[in-house]
Amino acid sequence: MSEAPVITFDGPSATGKGTIAGRVAAMLGFHLLDSGALYRVLALASHRSDIEPDNGAVIAALAPGLPVEFNAGGGIRLHGEDVSTAIRTALVDELASRIAALPEVRKALLPWQRDFRRQPGLVAEGRDMGAVVFADAEVKFFLTASAEVRAKRRHKQLIDKGLGARLPDLLRGLRSRDRRDEQRSISPLRPATGAIEIDTSQLSIDQVVDRVMQSIAARRGG
Ligand code: DC
Repeated sequence: MSEAPVITFDGPSATGKGTIAGRVAAMLGFHLLDSGALYRVLALASHRSDIEPDNGAVIAALAPGLPVEFNAGGGIRLHGEDVSTAIRTALVDELASRIAALPEVRKALLPWQRDFRRQPGLVAEGRDMGAVVFADAEVKFFLTASAEVRAKRRHKQLIDKGLGARLPDLLRGLRSRDRRDEQRSISPLRPATGAIEIDTSQLSIDQVVDRVMQSIAARRGG
């Protein structure tokens, strides 16, 4: 049997990528990979084991044996503990961004990410899904939005979850992580060749999902 089809969503944080990828996966009946969650879980596990966030070799060695479970509702367990909220704190935002710049860590996460590819198909979202991890993806999207719009969206998400946050701090953190994502030497954040770019600043989630589904139908000859 040929390999399962993959649809990728890449772009900076808070562009709506996660929500859009989840909706599209549900509409197509495909599996979903939130690759940022893998970086986050690994960052949290390293932190809890007192590993320095620049120790790429030790962090990479931790990845293959990590007892992580994903459930269909988006919940994530580490050693049986629900860490869905613990991986979304400002500390883990920062640690995940730092470990994601380490070549050994990115390499260790490759097989783990590719393991999510199963029939009838996979929707994968992150930074380098289309460019590196699933370079042979059927349809690739690159979502963007202005930093201000993204900071406001992240602010609302955190407030809705009952987590405190200040907008200027969020904007500053987001800009500094964007810079790190864009400037790292390995897999820097940039659109994959052939990716369809969508600026979501002025669009609702529904509008983006509509455009995406139309593009998928056109590209897949549907
Ligand atoms: O999408 P996110 O904010 O949950 O991602 C967490 C961190 O992991 C972020 O700093 C970027 C990094 N990341 C990455 O480098 N490559 C990916 N495919 C996904 C996330």
